[in-house]
Amino acid sequence: MAQHRITLLPGDGIGPEIMAVAVKVLKTVGETFDLTFEFQEALIGGAAIDATGEPLPAETLEMCKNSDSVLLAAIGGYKWDTLPRHLRPETGLLGLRAGLGLFANLRPATILPQLIDASSLKREVVEGVDIMVVRELTGGIYFGQPRGVFTTETGEKRGVNTMAYTDSEIDRIGRVAFETAQKRRKKLCSVDKANVLEVSQLWRDRITALAADYPDVELSHLYVDNAAMQLVRSPKQFDTIVTGNLFGDILSDAAAMLTGSIGMLPSASLGASGAGVYEPVHGSAPDIAGQDKANPLAQVLSAAMMLRYDLNQPDAANHIEQAVLRVLDQGYRTGDIIAEGNTLVGCEAMGNILIKALTEE
Ligand code: IPM
Ligand code: MG
Repeated sequence: MAQHRITLLPGDGIGPEIMAVAVKVLKTVGETFDLTFEFQEALIGGAAIDATGEPLPAETLEMCKNSDSVLLAAIGGYKWDTLPRHLRPETGLLGLRAGLGLFANLRPATILPQLIDASSLKREVVEGVDIMVVRELTGGIYFGQPRGVFTTETGEKRGVNTMAYTDSEIDRIGRVAFETAQKRRKKLCSVDKANVLEVSQLWRDRITALAADYPDVELSHLYVDNAAMQLVRSPKQFDTIVTGNLFGDILSDAAAMLTGSIGMLPSASLGASGAGVYEPVHGSAPDIAGQDKANPLAQVLSAAMMLRYDLNQPDAANHIEQAVLRVLDQGYRTGDIIAEGNTLVGCEAMGNILIKALTEE
């Protein structure tokens, strides 16, 4: 019997509600597939600030390092928005990514036939969309030095961040992206701003050089402004996209929305070795927190991704993904993906319906 130690980071807002559903789902598939999970819960984000005064307590990072995988819900909320940067929930999340060396963020945006009408774009534009955004996660302008707000000689304040990438940082995310494309439709589009930024020129040069090692992958390049336009104009041209931290942050939200709801999309953050972090692409939605309205499916699908990538349990992952599709086929929807003729359910009810779908043949 396989034993897996999972650190749970429910975080803030709707986090605890959707995490509760994902844990129930994992326990249920555990019984079916003879997997034992040892769950340990830790604090991150605003919840950690309230309890300990810091957004990523050392104990949390230690627990994550000592586990097979980490399932994270969401962090942040109005309450902590005005704290100084080093005490913000987001700083905890960035610290977790850096502390675990999670340089590769995989964000799939796949449109489900059941949800086409929930997309804000026309059916013919989004039908069949299946994109994987590979975002660099521990470098670029999110981490570059110098950074800060400084005072100039004339007494003016000046805010500074630095977009920087080294050869090796570009190469390691580039390799993940080429390998990801090889397992998909073998098309990779690298996104940069090489017409303006030196850092992007280096990015483009390195990615181009790497292509020699992956002759089966068709590589193209787009400037980020054009990529944003193409994503909403004709998203089906994309298979795998690789880009830096900031561009990836922006483009992955746009790609997510093609699918109708950001509430459906999971993500995986992976390092060279050790535990990965699996989390929904959406945030903590403080406006609906505690109201049993949240869509737990991105959290559940993140747990499925965890089973597939970190725990090597593809059958259990498939089982969850199929159950999600069946529940959607049955017409059940949370408020974010509701359309005419569907049955509106809350977060907990969606979880219970899903458990039923998991246990009946
Ligand atoms: C994301 C989020 C984070 C990011 C925030 C919460 C720090 O937007 O995971 O995309 O910018 O990376
Ligand atoms: Mg984001």
